[in-house]
Amino acid sequence: MKPKFKNPRAQHNFQGRPCSIAGVGSYVPERILTNAELEKMVDTTDEWITSRTGIRERRIAAVDEFTSDLAAKAAKRAMKMAGITADKIDLIIVATLTPDMQFPSTACLVQRKIGAARAAAFDVEAACSGFIYALEIGQQFILSRTYETVLVIGAEKLSSIVNWKDRNTCVLFGDGAGAAILQHRENTHGLLTAVMGADGNKADLLSMPGGGSACPATLESVAAGLHFLRMDGKETFKNAVNAMVSAAHEALRRCDIDITRIKCVIPHQANQRIVDAVGERLKATPEQIFVNLHKYGNTSAASVAIALDEVVASGKIQRGDLVLLVVFGAGLTWGAAVIEW
Ligand code: UT7
Repeated sequence: MKPKFKNPRAQHNFQGRPCSIAGVGSYVPERILTNAELEKMVDTTDEWITSRTGIRERRIAAVDEFTSDLAAKAAKRAMKMAGITADKIDLIIVATLTPDMQFPSTACLVQRKIGAARAAAFDVEAACSGFIYALEIGQQFILSRTYETVLVIGAEKLSSIVNWKDRNTCVLFGDGAGAAILQHRENTHGLLTAVMGADGNKADLLSMPGGGSACPATLESVAAGLHFLRMDGKETFKNAVNAMVSAAHEALRRCDIDITRIKCVIPHQANQRIVDAVGERLKATPEQIFVNLHKYGNTSAASVAIALDEVVASGKIQRGDLVLLVVFGAGLTWGAAVIEW
């Protein structure tokens, strides 16, 4: 295969064993929660939510619909597009911060639900950056020839950890899942590079303190609201823009391309103002940037996975076009990936 890029790190994948994205799929729950409904639940307005975030509605999973259910539905759609059956899958990686339970992993529950009996399975926890972390991990198994087919999923039921009495956070999040099938396929590219980063010194900006070994569930921890997501919105915002811009620059640099070569930029769908600020600093045109946060809010690890599926389904990109994914989340964590579709 003829390498297209000068940078050796990008060429590594081309000359070695390219990791293709053979299929993508997504699923969002049926129930739509609008800003107008939120006005009746907390002290907020449609005007505030729309102007500060761009979000108009979000999807909420049913009481008996869990992260693994959303993930399995997205996975089946990705498998259909890739033209594979569950027995072909060697590994399942689920990125989520809202697993069905502490253990077993959501990936194991997905394995059961889709019938991928041969697959190894584990979860990745990198909050909203999880899908890119999982893509990069999955890619490494393909490049090293350890596995032929890896199923990567970003899935969340954030409605299960949101405090529906806290207007600062409850208006922001939604539920959903997106999936991708990674394989080596001759004469196709796929994931060209993925950048990952983290800063644990800022762990307190966005967290759910209760439920782990530091703060197991007690009557007191529940009463204190420690099992809900909490966020310092303003600080998170600033960090998000800076980290996403530098991760995107690093990914482009590794591929030795500039932003004009990118057909579609898919930023983490947290806030329209963050998307605009990142787009402006990357010098991307509005036509390049994909946004669906008005429909789904922030779906954390599922965010760019759902968006990638929608971009593909809409025909906005054709095989061979370059796509830039860029993410940010709790940890803090961030990442960026360049994909040749
Ligand atoms: O996915 C992981 C990463 N997460 C993010 O990237 C989220 C980053 N942060 C943000 O998107 C924004 O900071 C928010 C949307 C969370 C908040 O926007 P902001 O412009 O930073 O608002 P703020 O936090 O400065 O709050 C401004 C005011 C406050 O009132 P006072 O103290 O000025 O009187 C809030 O109490 O807006 C108030 N407020 C609300 N008012 C109506 C906060 N939430 C609401 C609400 N409705 N839902």
